Amino acid sequence: MNDLNRRRFLAASAASPIAVVAVASPAAAAIGDVTLQAALEGRQSVRRFGSAPVAEDALLRLLWAANGVNRPDSGGQTAPSWRSSHDTVIYLATAEGLFRHVHESNTLEKVSDTDIRALSSDSAFVARAPALLIYVSDGEKLRAAAEGADDQALAVGAHVNAAVSAQNVYLACAAEGLGTCLIGGAANREAIAEALALPEGSIVTYIQPVGTPR
Ligand SMILES: Cc1cc2nc3c(=O)[nH]c(=O)nc-3n(C[C@H](O)[C@H](O)[C@H](O)COP(=O)(O)O)c2cc1C
Repeated sequence: MNDLNRRRFLAASAASPIAVVAVASPAAAAIGDVTLQAALEGRQSVRRFGSAPVAEDALLRLLWAANGVNRPDSGGQTAPSWRSSHDTVIYLATAEGLFRHVHESNTLEKVSDTDIRALSSDSAFVARAPALLIYVSDGEKLRAAAEGADDQALAVGAHVNAAVSAQNVYLACAAEGLGTCLIGGAANREAIAEALALPEGSIVTYIQPVGTPR
């Protein structure tokens, strides 16, 4: 345990026994076991990951936090979206290939066997992360929801929608004992769009590596 985590552990010990589990034993923690207070205290950007793959059930909990359906009657999702555009689509790149998150069922659909992590970023910690979330704004959905908006407003809406999902992933990672970092600058958006065969008008907004902190 490093000094920062030790301080958090001591603070959490004083605050609540549930938080102790979340911070002292992250590998055993899961979203449901962790208080929001503990997740907020643990939220941080991590740029060093171990090489072990992230378990699929943990990834699905992160994806549900990012973009899951939390109100089945209305199709409402865990993250808000500008004008209810629900335009954010999340892809997952791992050594196993490329997957699309089907948010309605919180499942992963395999798109290809190709590992696109290395082409997604020139930044080594991103390219080598065990799991890489790729946020795409579905241009058709966004335009349909935001009729009359100009390109700048659409781009802002697309990025804000992805960023609020990404913050949910930060909190879920804190709860799961995983590390993550939102990446805007070091994303090879053109290469990603090509690998995903995105239609005209879709926007690669951010990428977000996930792994066990090292
Ligand atoms: C919109 C956005 C884009 C970011 N892009 C990058 C990036 O390209 N590379 C990176 O290492 N960190 C990136 N970050 C993470 C920030 O550098 C990080 O949040 C900041 O240093 C504060 O650290 P903390 O998250 O640990 O509090 C980004 C964060 C945001 C919100």
